[in-house]
Amino acid sequence: MIKTAIFPVAGRGTRLRPVTLCVPKELLPVYTTPLLQFAIDEARDAGIERFVFVTSADKPAIEHYVRTCHPGIDARFVEQAAPLGLGHAVLSGRAAARDGEEVEQPVAVILPDDLIFATVPVLAQMARAYDPALCQHMVAAMKVRPEDTASYGILDSDMPAPGRQIAVRGLVEKPSPSDAPSNLAVVGRYILHPTIFETLMTTGRGAGGEIQLTDAIQRDVQRLGVGAFRFEGIRYDCGQPDGLLEAASALQDVRDMVRTGSAA
Ligand code: UTP
Repeated sequence: MIKTAIFPVAGRGTRLRPVTLCVPKELLPVYTTPLLQFAIDEARDAGIERFVFVTSADKPAIEHYVRTCHPGIDARFVEQAAPLGLGHAVLSGRAAARDGEEVEQPVAVILPDDLIFATVPVLAQMARAYDPALCQHMVAAMKVRPEDTASYGILDSDMPAPGRQIAVRGLVEKPSPSDAPSNLAVVGRYILHPTIFETLMTTGRGAGGEIQLTDAIQRDVQRLGVGAFRFEGIRYDCGQPDGLLEAASALQDVRDMVRTGSAA
């Protein structure tokens, strides 16, 4: 049912400088596999057929990678004129995602720098649980340490059981621990009702002077309902150096186990 995914890949990757001055963050390898490759694989596993990459003029390597390694997929490339935030990046993908279709379908959004290792890929977990009769936007969610809330969008919500979703009361972008309504954080997987684009068009700049996707989703809580899906898997923040290293190390452990035949 969810056929289109938007990959916002136009960010500057300042936390990973200097390498990101010449290599896009989304093409940095975890072991030998670029982050973007994991994201494409995850989308394919969830049944995605249309791949919309929101990129920037100074990251031509992204289109080159996709065209070289995935010549057969329906890949569309859209330029985000300036890095005005994740919400703005998603909005930039609107025309390519819609393609003038009369019947509009929900759209997935995948952030490649949020790498999640899971037995069932997370977007497939979400697609399975998505039920527009309950909530029309769905966000991936995980428990974080209370002292880390200022690094995430935080949900005003009860804690869902792993593998389950729960309707949320609201979302707050990067609250300090004292202001955080919970320690349930949004991470980079979304299934969004197509009217998110209209909401984004009238969403002003929020935290950091950027147009925040979290703010737009928050505005739709009453109208559409927002579900927090607590995925099963381990997430690595590969937008910063330690996360990238930890993900590579985790992958190395698994590969070592497979090599020695000790993985059951
Ligand atoms: P981040 O929030 O990690 O921002 O983006 P960033 O700019 O890439 O990195 P830092 O903070 O400077 O280190 C999460 C995802 O959203 C995309 C990024 O490319 C990444 O995949 N993004 C972010 C955009 O496409 N456009 C933007 O304006 C911001």
